[in-house]
Amino acid sequence: MKALILAGGFGTRLRPLSCTRPKLLFPVAGKPVIDWILQGLSKVGVETAILAVNYMAESFVRYLGPTKFNVGILYSREARPMGTGGPIKMAESLLRDSDMFLVLNGDVLSDLDYRRLIQFHVEKGGLATIALYRVEDPSRYGSVEVDGEGRIMRFVEKPEPGKAPSNLVNAGIYVFNREVLEYIPTGRRVSTEREVFPNLAKDGTLYGYEMKGLWIDIGVPEDYLTANRLLLSKPEVGQIAEGADIDEGAKILPPVHVGRGVEIGEDSVIGPYTSIGEDVYVGKGCRIEGSIIFPGAMIGDHTSIRNAIVGENATIERWVKIESGSLIGDYAEIADGVTITHDVTICPSKRVEESILEIHQVM
Ligand code: GTP
Repeated sequence: MKALILAGGFGTRLRPLSCTRPKLLFPVAGKPVIDWILQGLSKVGVETAILAVNYMAESFVRYLGPTKFNVGILYSREARPMGTGGPIKMAESLLRDSDMFLVLNGDVLSDLDYRRLIQFHVEKGGLATIALYRVEDPSRYGSVEVDGEGRIMRFVEKPEPGKAPSNLVNAGIYVFNREVLEYIPTGRRVSTEREVFPNLAKDGTLYGYEMKGLWIDIGVPEDYLTANRLLLSKPEVGQIAEGADIDEGAKILPPVHVGRGVEIGEDSVIGPYTSIGEDVYVGKGCRIEGSIIFPGAMIGDHTSIRNAIVGENATIERWVKIESGSLIGDYAEIADGVTITHDVTICPSKRVEESILEIHQVM
């Protein structure tokens, strides 16, 4: 079985965090999103993953190479972003020998057993099956109307409030028969959600499989942090790497992930639900909770970070306070004593010397 992973796109909300890392290489509970996905595919015996990439393609090639977790990796590159459908059409020559294949949105983390989805797809005999997930607010997603047999009658992308056909939404995980490729126009940007699914539904050959369990789209900071929290909560995940230098007077509140080469000073309290990347330095008397700290960041004494994301090699000086939902970009610097209130984005390499107390600022 082959799987095509959509690994391009910009991911508007998280994009300002990093200029060097595509979001599929963002760490969640100690490893990049793409590793979680490939491991899941490996478990069900997927032999080949086709990574549909555009910007920062070389970062993937450098990180993953030709194979990972026993899954062979092929790269299908677009010169320009081709949307969620165009890249599938572009990979046609790599998919031609498969009667059916999986398609995954790269920014979705789930513990779906793909075998069940495939079995359902084969039993129903349609051309395409979408994994569906029940959510409270469907307006950010593609919402569907399903009949008693699991056939999707209607697919509405990002419905206006109150206009969603149901609370079941497109989970971004599909099984396609090869014939679906004929539904995708060639040579242009195509949205699978807006152009392909409605036509498949019209032809009565689109099915939906309701999945349960863990499912999260990491597209916005809050959900990215939730993904970290949920994965750290799994018993086999979350650990302190050998060689991490944690002062005896520091306190670790599990679950946490602490990477190699990390230093944590006296009286600092780390956790719960916190991932600290490799080579991060944390000074004395710090408090870091519910957060993701990218590799190489420097956090000065008596700083407090709650439910926030700190990018690679950022420098947070002393007595800094960073509040919920804020993003500190790669290489940014936050000066002594600054408070960053919640939902603030600091762009990469920016130096901030004064507190930001108004929410939803991008600096
Ligand atoms: P938003 O701007 O936040 O909506 O982000 P997005 O670009 O991630 O869009 P969307 O959620 O619709 O994307 C679904 C999946 O397709 C994600 O895994 C993206 O990484 C991927 N994707 C989106 N656009 C492209 C594209 O042009 N090319 C490729 N190869 N993948 C894409």
